[in-house]
This record gives sequence, C-alpha cells and structure tokens, in this order.
Amino acid sequence: MERLDKVLSSQGICSRKEVKSFLKNKRIKINGVFPQKSDIKIDPECDIIEVDGRILTYSRFLYIMMNKPKGVLSASNDKNAETVIDLLPDDLKRKNLFPAGRLDKDTTGLLIITDDGEFAHNMLSPKKHVPKLYRAVLDGELSDKNKTILESGITLSDGTQYKPAKIFVKNENNRREVEIEICEGKFHQVKKMFEFVGLTVVDLTRLRVGGLNLDENLALGNAKLLSRIELSLIFSGNNS
Ligand code: URA
Repeated sequence: MERLDKVLSSQGICSRKEVKSFLKNKRIKINGVFPQKSDIKIDPECDIIEVDGRILTYSRFLYIMMNKPKGVLSASNDKNAETVIDLLPDDLKRKNLFPAGRLDKDTTGLLIITDDGEFAHNMLSPKKHVPKLYRAVLDGELSDKNKTILESGITLSDGTQYKPAKIFVKNENNRREVEIEICEGKFHQVKKMFEFVGLTVVDLTRLRVGGLNLDENLALGNAKLLSRIELSLIFSGNNS
C-alpha cells in the first residue's frame, strides 16, 4: 500500500504539492469515490485510479528521459561529482533509479533513467540490437575512405572489436559533423572508433535510442517521464 500523493506524483499526474488542489477540484477518484485526503493509502496495482474521468494505467517502474548536460556523471551516486540522479526534480526522484547505460561526462543528450533492471538489460544487450544514434563533431573531416572503414567494423590494436556502424554525412560541405549509429555500447566506443581513423571527437550528443528521439523541447539538464508509447519506441527500431 502506498500514499495517494506519492502514487500520483510517481506517475507524473501532478506534483505532491499539487495533489491537495487536485482532490479539492474533484479531479481524482479512487474506486469511484472522491478521496478527501492526500495521505490515504491505496494499492496502485489493484485500486481503480481515475484522473479527470480517465482510468490511470499504473506503471510499477519509472522510465525517464533526460537531456544529459556536460559535466555530470552517468551514475547513481558519487562522493565527489554531481550525477544525473542528483539532477532529477524531486517529483521524479525515487529509490533505485539508475541510468540505463552510460554517457561520458562530456557527452550530452538522450539518457534513459529507470528503476527497471530487466528493461535496462534488454535495452543495452547487444543481442537486442537497439541502435543508438550519436552526432559527433570531429576535429577534421571524415573522408569517404575512413567512413567505409568504420562501416565495415574494426579491431583496435588491443583486440577490442567494434561491429559495423552506420555513418550519415548530413551535409557534404561539413564533413566534420556526422551522425553515427551503433548497436553496442562499449566504453568510449564512438570516440575510439573515430580515433582509429585519426580523428578526435570534440563534441558528442546522443540523439536517439531505438526509435525514440531526444525530445527537442527538453533543455539540457531537464528530465521528463516517458509515456508508454514513447517507451515502446525504444524497441521498435528506427524512427528517422
Ligand atoms: N561513445 C563514446 O565515446 N562516449 C559516449 O558517451 C557514448 C558513446
């Protein structure tokens, strides 16, 4: 059993502060009855929760999209550095949240934060082939020859293997800025791939995971709950 205000805020319906006014305005019904108090205990998986006349489909786990800024760690906690979890607004903070996959400290863009371990495993497993699309700004131009090399798959001198990537030159007049899609998520993978062909990544942003694009309206450092439809896009291939 959980407090009503906690359940509503965990589902992104309203903040815990707003719950009282939602109740006063009779916007919430529990099992057909308007509750008077925000601290009553309900069973979110069994009780029928209505918001403005629509039945809420409760989700036990949280799935959050963050537009990760530079300078924060993709980790749950760290003694010294600020983490992506520290950046979450109070309404989205919950025990057990962690970033599903890591972006480097200086990488920006789409990061999924969740408390659903199985989901994260599936999203990250190379076997599931969830493509991740990045925009990389390079310190030099990517030649067609080097593009082909990266698209064929490479092996570094230390034996690390990277599967073939897809590379998109969006503007032929600017071959210092390209998009690269990979299905693995090895340590510093994009940076190391370009390093292999003599280029340094000077700026890196993740734009898409599976078929889910980074929300253009989400400012750096901001986060939002994902809807069920958005969540399903992650496993539904490409959305370009
Ligand atoms: N590849 C990298 O090199 N860094 C990231 O943050 C993500 C992919």
